[in-house]
Amino acid sequence: TLLHGRFLTFNDRPEAIDDTASYRYENDGGIWVEDGLIRQAGTWDAVRAAAPSDAIEIDHRPHLIMPGFVDPHIHFPQMQVIGSYAANLLEWLNTYTFVEEQRFADPDHAARVATHFFDELIRHGTTTAAAYCSVHKASADAFFAEATLRNLRMVAGKVMMDRNAPGPLTDTPQAAYDDTKAVIADWHGTGRNHVAITPRFAITSSPAELELAGALTAEHPELHVQTHLAENHGEIAFTRELYPEAIDYTDVYARSGLLGPKSLLGHCIHLSDREAGVLAESGSVAVFCPTSNLFLGSGLFDNARLAGHGVRTAIATDVGGGTNYSMLRTLDEGYKVLQLQGQRMTPLDAFYRITLGNARALSLAEHIGTLEPGSDADLVVLDASAMPAMAIKAERVETLVEELFLLQTLGDDRAIAEVYVAGEAVKSGL
Ligand code: GUN
Ligand code: FE
Repeated sequence: TLLHGRFLTFNDRPEAIDDTASYRYENDGGIWVEDGLIRQAGTWDAVRAAAPSDAIEIDHRPHLIMPGFVDPHIHFPQMQVIGSYAANLLEWLNTYTFVEEQRFADPDHAARVATHFFDELIRHGTTTAAAYCSVHKASADAFFAEATLRNLRMVAGKVMMDRNAPGPLTDTPQAAYDDTKAVIADWHGTGRNHVAITPRFAITSSPAELELAGALTAEHPELHVQTHLAENHGEIAFTRELYPEAIDYTDVYARSGLLGPKSLLGHCIHLSDREAGVLAESGSVAVFCPTSNLFLGSGLFDNARLAGHGVRTAIATDVGGGTNYSMLRTLDEGYKVLQLQGQRMTPLDAFYRITLGNARALSLAEHIGTLEPGSDADLVVLDASAMPAMAIKAERVETLVEELFLLQTLGDDRAIAEVYVAGEAVKSGL
C-alpha cells in the first residue's frame, strides 16, 4: 500500500519553536506500507518509483499523516467513571472508582467494555496505550484478548491492591504475584502485547505486596512497571502514615525495587528535590496527566523543574480521572497547565511528545512513534479543518507550526480523519 499525503515525523526532541533539524516534514510525501510495517517514507516521487507499480494508492491529501498517538497512562475499567463529580482524588476513588472497578470481576462485562475501549482509542488516534486493568485477572484477559484481535501494540497489567479498598477489589500479595505471573505467561509477547507490573499505588498495597511487586520486577526486568506517585496532598499524607520508615513517597517505591527506566509514574506533582533526583538517577518516567490533574484539582505538573533534574517525562490522558481520550485535548490542557507556571510547550514539542516522546518513555521507539523503515505502520491522518470552527481558523493558517497548534487547541476525535493499525485502515470502518 502507498499512502499519498503530507507527513510529519520526528527524529529528536525539538529544542525551539523553529527547530527544523528535529523533524522531517514532506509536503508531497509518500509512505510505503508492507506486511504491517513501514517500508519507506519520503517524497511521493521517490517512494512511488521504489514501490511495485501495482501497489494500491490511497490519497490522503490535503491531510497530515503522523505516527499514531501514544497514551502512556489510562485506566481501562474507568470508561463509566469518567466525568464523576468529586472534590479530590481520594473522594473520587472511594465514591466511584472502587465501586465501578468491582464490575470487572465479570468476564462478560470486561469483554464488552474492552470493545468500547479500543473503539474509543482508535477514534481518537491513539494506537498504543499503557493501561491499568482492574484487580481481576479476568479484566486483563479481556483487555489483551481484544487488543490481540485488533493487532494493537498495548501495554497493560492486572492491578495489584490488597488494602484500603472494598473487599471485592482486593487481592493478597501472593494472589497478586501469582495472577500477574499468569497474565505474563498468557499474554506477554503474544500478538503485540506487553504486560506491565501494576501495583496501583502505595495506599492500596501492603509492604508485603510492594515487596512481591519488586520481586516480580527483578525477575522480569523486560517488563514495564506502572503506578501513581505524589498526585494529591491527602494521598501523600496517608502514604507517609502507612510507610513511616520510608524517607518520602518516592522512597516507598525505591526501597521496593520498583523504580527504573521501564517505570511509569503517574502524576509526580508534589515532589521534593530529593525525590526528583531519585527519579532522574533511576531513569524512571514522570507521566504528566493534565486533564486529570485539573479535573481532580490535584495540582500543576512542574515540567521545567523535573526536566532541570533530568527526569524523563511523558504526557497522558489518565482517563477516567482524565476527562478526554484525545491526546489533542490532552496537549491543549497540558499547554495551559504549563502557561500558568510561566512555562512554554512549543507546538513541535507537543506533537513530538505524543508520538516519539511517549514512545521513548515506553522504551518502544524501535517499534512505534516514527515513520522509520521497519517501524510498525501505526498512523494517524489529521484534518485541521475537521469542523467549522477549525475550518474558519485554518483559512488564516500559513505554517506547519500554526497548523499543529490549531490541531492541538481545537482538535479532538473529529480531527482524526483515518487511523492505520499495522497498515490496516481502522477508523473509517469502525
Ligand atoms: N491513584 C490510585 N489509583 C488512581 C486512579 O485510578 N486514578 C488516578 N488519577 N489516581 C490514582
Ligand atoms: Fe491514573
